[in-house]
Amino acid sequence: MIEVKDLTVNYNRENDKIPALKNVSINIGTGDIYTFIGPSGCGKSTFLYVLSGILQDYTGSVRVNERPVNPRSQRIGLILQNYGLLPWKNVYDNTMLGVKIKNDQVVLDDYGQYLLQRLGIDNLLDRYPKELSGGQQQRVAIARAFMLKPDLLLMDEPFSALDAITREELQELFLKIWKENNVTTVFITHSVDEALYLGSKIVVFSPAPGRILEVLDNPCFQLDNLRSREEYYDMSQRLRKILDKGR
Ligand SMILES: Nc1ncnc2c1ncn2[C@@H]1O[C@H](COP(=O)(O)OP(=O)(O)OP(=O)(O)O)[C@@H](O)[C@H]1O
Ligand SMILES: [Mg+2]
Repeated sequence: MIEVKDLTVNYNRENDKIPALKNVSINIGTGDIYTFIGPSGCGKSTFLYVLSGILQDYTGSVRVNERPVNPRSQRIGLILQNYGLLPWKNVYDNTMLGVKIKNDQVVLDDYGQYLLQRLGIDNLLDRYPKELSGGQQQRVAIARAFMLKPDLLLMDEPFSALDAITREELQELFLKIWKENNVTTVFITHSVDEALYLGSKIVVFSPAPGRILEVLDNPCFQLDNLRSREEYYDMSQRLRKILDKGR
């Protein structure tokens, strides 16, 4: 369970105060996937930095499973928008980073092997991030987060650099892993379709400083052939209208 109350974030820059989030309150139940959508610069990544414990300079309260955020005691799988790979480590070491920090495993097990293969990076293990394409780096970041079998999965546009087919494959893989592990997920996306397919609820942010405009129940969650459904038409219209009105 994630409980966020009156979260406000301002960045300090020289003499300037740049407001990024304003009075954001939301509760996300254990095992739910919430997709977050909103215009560029509205504070989505900032929200994720706070939930992951990277950013601690905020007002308001943020609790995960009834405790303050603590990456040491909680298993948090984090996929940052810029992938967050360590440039001096190869693919293998980057994917193993999370589990090694948690000390549970130092070599690849069957599940890890399966992930690398499904993500199509099992033949790249000795490469370094600078020797990979953007989409390949993104898949390494996904492997690292999933390998941890996290209790909380925080994903910042995790599939944005992928071609349409790989993106669809990874959406399916993500849903499969989500079902198996019942992991509470915050999923940030720019794509209305992705928000509709992957979110049990959809949270719409206003332009900066981000406020929550609406939290929508989503009848399109996991629907096959989404685009041919009547629900899809209704929901995508509704979402676009809210996004438009917020501008
Ligand atoms: N380190 C920083 N210092 C100052 N301002 C920042 C910093 N990081 C982000 N900002 C500003 O805070 C606001 C929110 O940024 P954030 O990265 O959270 O937006 P976003 O919704 O993730 O955008 P995008 O969809 O483009 O990824 C923006 O106005 C941005 O310019
Ligand atoms: Mg962002």
